Amino acid sequence: MTQKISAAITAVGGYVPDDILSNSDLEQMVDTNDEWIRTRTGISERRILKGLHKGTSDLCIPAILQICEKRGILPSEIDCIIVGTVTPDMFFPSTANLVCEKVGAVNAWGFDLLAACSGFLYSLTTGASLIESGRYQKVIVVGADKMSSIVDYSDRSTCIIFGDGAGAVLLEPNQEGFGVLDSILKSDGSGKTHLHMKSGGSLRPASIETVARKEHFIYQEGQPVYKFAVTRMADVSEELLKRNHLTGDDIAYLVPHQANKRIIDATASRIGLSEEKVMVNIQRYGNTTAGTIPLCLSDWESQLKKGDLLVLAAFGGGFTWGATLVRWGF
Ligand code: UT7
Repeated sequence: MTQKISAAITAVGGYVPDDILSNSDLEQMVDTNDEWIRTRTGISERRILKGLHKGTSDLCIPAILQICEKRGILPSEIDCIIVGTVTPDMFFPSTANLVCEKVGAVNAWGFDLLAACSGFLYSLTTGASLIESGRYQKVIVVGADKMSSIVDYSDRSTCIIFGDGAGAVLLEPNQEGFGVLDSILKSDGSGKTHLHMKSGGSLRPASIETVARKEHFIYQEGQPVYKFAVTRMADVSEELLKRNHLTGDDIAYLVPHQANKRIIDATASRIGLSEEKVMVNIQRYGNTTAGTIPLCLSDWESQLKKGDLLVLAAFGGGFTWGATLVRWGF
């Protein structure tokens, strides 16, 4: 009997821009201080994509090209590119569309997927389904955000958190049980009250007034988002382990969305994982929204072993949240 096709991760890439925005830089811009930021969030610095005419696609491209080089494939061999992002280059065409052209993925189709900080998990699960269907051989899933394009740098409660970055994985069919094994994804639109962008969509198109009222920036009520994130990310991670008859002892790493170190610690503690089994790079990059989880995979690549079980977990705007179980495949 042939085993079911799973979507194995066969290469990973990551990219952050060179420019650093440190806590001491932010002290010059808003009423804050390094100690408050580090103790309340765990962040010391974040990367910012500077330069005219640079968008999220410019973060995706180096990550995808790294993957092609590492795996020894040509961009023309890619079947599909999915970009999880809330900061597309433009409303349309999709960032994936632009990226396909810019990397030379001339045989690929692609689309953007909007699920805020859960964008990578939603995209990974979608990409895995394309592979599992048997129709596609090489799907690239990217999580990327240029958060600096929607951050109000006079709002101290949001500008300290976010940064720019991208990570990507290549999915290929596998029949040895590697790859995306299970996923629980959730959504609750009532969460929009606490985290959203007020204008710029079809509900409230951009106008001189919306710009004057600063309605094209992130609006976040930190405390309610924090409370939901702490419980929901832990709940869903626990549920994922339970339904796969696993405990924290079976897991090599928790790969959490990097929004706040305290939310990460709460999730790790709920599923019984000690600090050394939790990927944390929030101190260097801040919250890159859809970029956080694949950037962790990229940073930890050399420490991952074939067969390692990983729990990827996220919570973000929408609300959207979820957890995905992966058996590392290379
Ligand atoms: O990834 C997408 C999902 N987003 C999240 O998961 C974010 C979840 N929320 C958080 O991480 C936290 O709520 C924040 C980091 C955003 C804020 O931390 P907090 O501990 O919840 O702070 P707070 O909003 O309750 O504010 C506490 C105090 C306030 O002062 P008063 O009213 O007690 O005098 C704020 O004005 O801290 C003040 N404050 C600051 N002080 C110095 C808020 N921001 C700052 C700041 N520097 N940057």
